[in-house]
Amino acid sequence: MATQDELKQRAAFRAVEFVESGMVVGLGTGSTTEHAVKRIAALLTAGELNNIVGIPTSIRTEKIALESNLPLVGFDTHQEIDLTIDGADEVDPELNLIKGGGGALLREKVVAQASRRNIIIVDETKLVAQLGTNWALPIEVIPFARCTEEKFLTGFGGTVRLRTNDDGTPYRTDQNNLILDTNFGKIVDPYNLAAKLNERAGIVEHGLFLGLATDVIVAGEGEIKHLTRTSPNRKG
Ligand code: 5RP
Repeated sequence: MATQDELKQRAAFRAVEFVESGMVVGLGTGSTTEHAVKRIAALLTAGELNNIVGIPTSIRTEKIALESNLPLVGFDTHQEIDLTIDGADEVDPELNLIKGGGGALLREKVVAQASRRNIIIVDETKLVAQLGTNWALPIEVIPFARCTEEKFLTGFGGTVRLRTNDDGTPYRTDQNNLILDTNFGKIVDPYNLAAKLNERAGIVEHGLFLGLATDVIVAGEGEIKHLTRTSPNRKG
């Protein structure tokens, strides 16, 4: 039986088959995407791909890419991304996502919104009938607003937990913000929830990625499924 990490690698390698020479590639964050970043770099080194540049979604991914000799650029020179490969924490049947387990949700959403195509790579444990089934929603807040946003989230049924490091100190994002992992139970209407969260000044971003994934590649025991978006693209 394949390990979860082997399944992640299979999904990543399948996604990299869609990368073509000359592309600007968005590089997601997390253990699944790490396989994709290293695979693209290896194909570049081998001369099977050329003229690829990446835009990383986190300092963590930037480091992995640079260590693997994958050239990086920023939005100052490249505002359009051909293809982004990223992971997810949960995927629903409409290909809506919860992301942010790795804390990179803000840059990940910026990169996703700048991308023509967003391929999400997951192992089959990430598929759920309804978002919120296994994963609390990561919500990035500015430190100044932490307590008022916590009250706001609790006010409509969220159970809020401040994300911490192993030593108990508050986790800080690449923007030096905090993350409130908020459990709403199964999320009945993610668009309505996203709209509420989008209205709050202290909430910089949340991990609901609605209408952004164009493709989801799911690695399971024995097979890899490639799901594509069929419903209209409502961004959230
Ligand atoms: C980071 C993310 C990751 O893509 C998500 O947490 C999945 O991570 P992994 O591939 O390690 O399971 O959203 O912010």
